Amino acid sequence: MKNLYTLFTLTVLAMTGCRPDPIEPAVYNPTPFVLDIGDFPDPQLPADNPLTIAGVELGRMLFYEKDLSRDRSQACADCHIQQDGFSDIRRFSVGVEGLDGKRQAMPVMNLAWHYNGLFWDGRAPQVRDQALKPIQDPLEMNETLEGAIAKLAANKKYRDQFIRAFGDDNITSPRMGLAMEQFMFTMVSKDSKYDKWNRGEVTLTPEEENGRKLFFAEFDPTGTGRGGECFHCHAGHNFTNDEFMNNGLDTDAEFTDTGREKVTMNPFDRAKFKVPSLRNIAKTPPYMHDGRFVTLEAVLDHYDHGAKNSSTVEFLMQYNIQPGGLGLTAQEKSDIIAFLHTLTDDVFLNNPAYKAPN
Ligand code: HEC
Ligand code: HEC
Repeated sequence: MKNLYTLFTLTVLAMTGCRPDPIEPAVYNPTPFVLDIGDFPDPQLPADNPLTIAGVELGRMLFYEKDLSRDRSQACADCHIQQDGFSDIRRFSVGVEGLDGKRQAMPVMNLAWHYNGLFWDGRAPQVRDQALKPIQDPLEMNETLEGAIAKLAANKKYRDQFIRAFGDDNITSPRMGLAMEQFMFTMVSKDSKYDKWNRGEVTLTPEEENGRKLFFAEFDPTGTGRGGECFHCHAGHNFTNDEFMNNGLDTDAEFTDTGREKVTMNPFDRAKFKVPSLRNIAKTPPYMHDGRFVTLEAVLDHYDHGAKNSSTVEFLMQYNIQPGGLGLTAQEKSDIIAFLHTLTDDVFLNNPAYKAPN
């Protein structure tokens, strides 16, 4: 009777799959992760790194893992903070030894649609390459890959999750890169007020609507129409043309960071930087690669009349750098800022799927 009862219990447990956790060995689980992209165009994701639920979860664990830094003080998420649009509101992120980095942190968002290289200068071709760089950057996490791997390998939680994601517990840096790439591809901002307006769900205020029109309008040299020229470069559903450009921050004599030129060795690329997405822009001050502008008002003043001529400034900046600039009124600048605020996506900023795993 007792045996029968045990058999019955075991059968029920096996059928419901609810055996006690500690004895359950981790098994490979290739269940695909279904990316929710709303009405955005299908991203061209790399075919050699299909998103799986287990892989995304591993990437999330690594994104929040302080053990990836030399002194266990800093995770990716300490410079890419969800409530700040997965960016850092400090001008220069502070690395592990309190060293100031040289560039302003970038938001981690909608990377599934970034095809032209990562970082302000595009030096990392794919997200997987990018993910391993901060670990080794002396100004960031200052750890070696061997050091990071050794710490993860000593942790059963990671050995198990590598099995679920990759089939065995061989912890390698390429696999770490792939898992973080998977997680970062799932970070999609698509539910801002502007998106809801695009879907016909809400209306914009008169200020936001005027700002929207100015954002998408060309400067009119005859002076009859009004335009902000922004859409030329901040184009498409992510508000970036995915190119490297010089938006007139400095004259040749003032160039300190040569940007894209460091990657291509081409003087034509001097002081060019990635055109950043403007999604959640109100949440990610300060602005530009060096965080020189603290407010959106300062950014608008730059585009209106503060842009400077140089050997590599974009032709598209021709009206910004002319005497008198775009000649926008205070109201027009504030309307463009009101429009930029409609790009804030509270669903993204609070999405539990992007928070630290338990
Ligand atoms: C000390 C702060 C700091 C830490 C820690 C850090 N980052 Fe960053 N992140 C930055 C800065 C600063 C940049 C811009 C650097 C540049 O362009 O040279 C950046 C850029 C990026 C970008 C490029 C985004 C784009 O649009 O091109 C991604 C993605 C990213 N980080 C992900 C990560 C991941 C993953 C980790 C952890 C493995 C991490 N970061 C750790 C500060 C940090
Ligand atoms: C010629 C292309 C171009 C045009 C036109 C342009 N931008 Fe930009 N924008 C850029 C580039 C390039 C950067 C990054 C520059 C850097 O950091 O060196 C940038 C940066 C920004 C930033 C800071 C983003 C961040 O994450 O720090 C904001 C905000 C911005 N632009 C808004 C606007 C608005 C508003 C307009 C229209 C009034 C506009 N831009 C017109 C190319 C352009």
